[in-house]
Amino acid sequence: KDSKVHQNLLEDHSFINYKNNLENVNIVRERLGRPLTYAEKILYGHLDDPHGQEIKRGVSYLKLRPDRVACQDATAQMAILQFMSAGLPQVAKPVTVHCDHLIQAQVGGDKDLPRAIKLNKEVYDFLGSATAKYNIGFWGPGSGIIHQIVLENYAFPGALIIGTDSHTPNAGGLGQLAIGVGGADAVDVMSDLPWELKAPKIMGVKLTGKMNGWTAPKDIILKLAGITTVKGGTGYIVEYFGEGVHTFSATGMATICNMGAEIGATTSVFPFNHSMVEYLDATGRKEIADFASVYHKDLLSADSGAEYDIVHEIDLSTLEPYVNGPFTPDLATPISKMKEVAVKNDWPLEVKVGLIGSCTNSSYEDMSRASSIVKDAAAHGLKAKTIFTVTPGSEQIRATIARDGQLETFKEFGGIVLANACGPCIGQWDRRDIKKGDKNTIVSSYNRNFTSRNDGNPQTHSFVASPELVTAFAIAGDLRFNPLTDKLKDKDGNEFLLKPPHGVGLPPKGYLKGNNTYQAPPKDRSTVQVKISPTSDRLQVLKPFKPWDGKDAFNMPILIKSFGKTTTDHISMAGPWLKYRGHLENISNNYMIGAINAENKKANCVKNHYTGEYSSVPDTARAYRDKGIKWVVIGGDNFGEGSSREHAALEPRFLGGFAIITRSFARIHETNLKKQGMLPLNFADPTAYDKINPDDTVDILGLTEFAPGKNLTLRIHTKDGKTWDTPLTHTFNQEQIEWFKAGSALNKIKSSKKH
Ligand code: F3S
Repeated sequence: KDSKVHQNLLEDHSFINYKNNLENVNIVRERLGRPLTYAEKILYGHLDDPHGQEIKRGVSYLKLRPDRVACQDATAQMAILQFMSAGLPQVAKPVTVHCDHLIQAQVGGDKDLPRAIKLNKEVYDFLGSATAKYNIGFWGPGSGIIHQIVLENYAFPGALIIGTDSHTPNAGGLGQLAIGVGGADAVDVMSDLPWELKAPKIMGVKLTGKMNGWTAPKDIILKLAGITTVKGGTGYIVEYFGEGVHTFSATGMATICNMGAEIGATTSVFPFNHSMVEYLDATGRKEIADFASVYHKDLLSADSGAEYDIVHEIDLSTLEPYVNGPFTPDLATPISKMKEVAVKNDWPLEVKVGLIGSCTNSSYEDMSRASSIVKDAAAHGLKAKTIFTVTPGSEQIRATIARDGQLETFKEFGGIVLANACGPCIGQWDRRDIKKGDKNTIVSSYNRNFTSRNDGNPQTHSFVASPELVTAFAIAGDLRFNPLTDKLKDKDGNEFLLKPPHGVGLPPKGYLKGNNTYQAPPKDRSTVQVKISPTSDRLQVLKPFKPWDGKDAFNMPILIKSFGKTTTDHISMAGPWLKYRGHLENISNNYMIGAINAENKKANCVKNHYTGEYSSVPDTARAYRDKGIKWVVIGGDNFGEGSSREHAALEPRFLGGFAIITRSFARIHETNLKKQGMLPLNFADPTAYDKINPDDTVDILGLTEFAPGKNLTLRIHTKDGKTWDTPLTHTFNQEQIEWFKAGSALNKIKSSKKH
């Protein structure tokens, strides 16, 4: 049980730590005095302090030590720039970066990939050089989609990994907890800080029976999304159990876990089983499968009698294929009802495009089953009626299905093979078959279908389904088509029923690696230079923030008193600004531009306290900063809710902000502000928010005795010369106070590494 087994075939410095994980689990089980679910075992096995950690599902915050980090290219930029500013020689945990989000689909992978490489050169050069410098594995453009590469190379049963992408949970198909996070969390783990997660509740999903015919693993999560809605999984890990969990392939389980993100779940997981052994073996990792088998009973399965907070049950034998959408992934319609529902809702009935592949559904099994349908149609002389695109999830999948003939089958059908990348799934799609604003229907085997996501057209009705069903729709070209019951006409006008799909889970001749797109970090990294052009408008080196000056702060203007909801979208808008996510100065031009000013109820229009002129929020903040004036923001309830966006905390700090004072914070934003050396503070008396006038100036007193649990004081100076005080609470612990004093968490890490 004590052998040293590598986490993967690519790194010689990362090992699997089952022994230590099991010791932690035993400590926690004894403390809690109850059996544990599988997900709990993985989580608690990775606790920073299994003896002292408070554990209440849904209540406590767990401090965890994940095994590794994966970043996609869009989110990796700021994460690495921040990590660089800590001045550490290399990352503390194994990390990989994957170039998949920036490749636009236009005419097909052969031409699209070289074009994207040219267009995004500065980003790829930066990521390629920074990963080499800091000992990070780099998967270049063309290598494939992050989650597919993680599954093929890095995932292993019982692991805890975080990834800077929502669909990181895909790796639950190999029995690991894989959790999607923001860049700030990735920086914590890279810099050896424990990573914090609110102890999730556990949703058990019991699978009984066995799937048959046209039903595919995707239909399980499509059905579950219909039951729970897009919010039903929030705060939960979904743990699958019951005899049905042993009836499909590891990649099928990955599909189910991937799309757990659509119900808001923290992650999803299947317990270790024989399909995982087979997949590990097929991907060259027999040693890991053998090692996991030793720990199967103790560590890699739920204790008997383990309890779930909530349980849903799905009978696979009677499960129908589903079509979910449009505009939301939880609008679930079984195929038998689709005709009626589509007509009733006046959804466009002609299917314009069928898209298969993506990180959700591009396994060998998916491609084989879809190609079996295409072959059947071809035998009757039929081709795709719609545009049909195929996105292989990785270079390995592309090379393997090219060798085994599925790719050629798709091409003969009329299919366009896109680059091994996200493409249309993330809106990187130069769609030309319709005009913007045209009402139309597309069906994909992807996971998300929110308005405008795929092609930027709010009139596109986007549905998600299994690749099998998407292929059937591509043949029929009609949303009312039910391949289980509806006949098609062959080239001679004779009617026939498509045969149910078939295909194997793993390639009989083994996987083919394809082109080598992986760059391992060099052994000697001392001479590697990180490439950032000083004139770039997409990338900028981060300068460390200044430490606290050791004094209370006086006479600070209120940059904005925000009115109503202030989400991270109001604070740092996404959309076109994402281009600048590696350039703090440029992206700071979106700071609070969506927030409503309480004074005039307008967005992005605030008064400069000193000149009396109205201007944009970022310009006013810069004007204060350039004069050496600290400022504060006043906010209402649950300030900073929404996605965990580190820019929402970096920007106010960069623009010279000192404190954000609110009625209450969304926890993640509050922590992110602390990490950047800002002061997130709360009114002890919530009515103080109403009494403060945007024209007032404020002092923050008590900082020289700043301590956990001890209130600070806000002194308000009104325009007519009055002064009043109100107490401020805070949630800083001692370690976080040190971050504030040092100027940021990274500054603190930097100084402690020096001593
Ligand atoms: Fe990429 Fe879409 Fe997956 S954006 S990571 S293919 S969900």
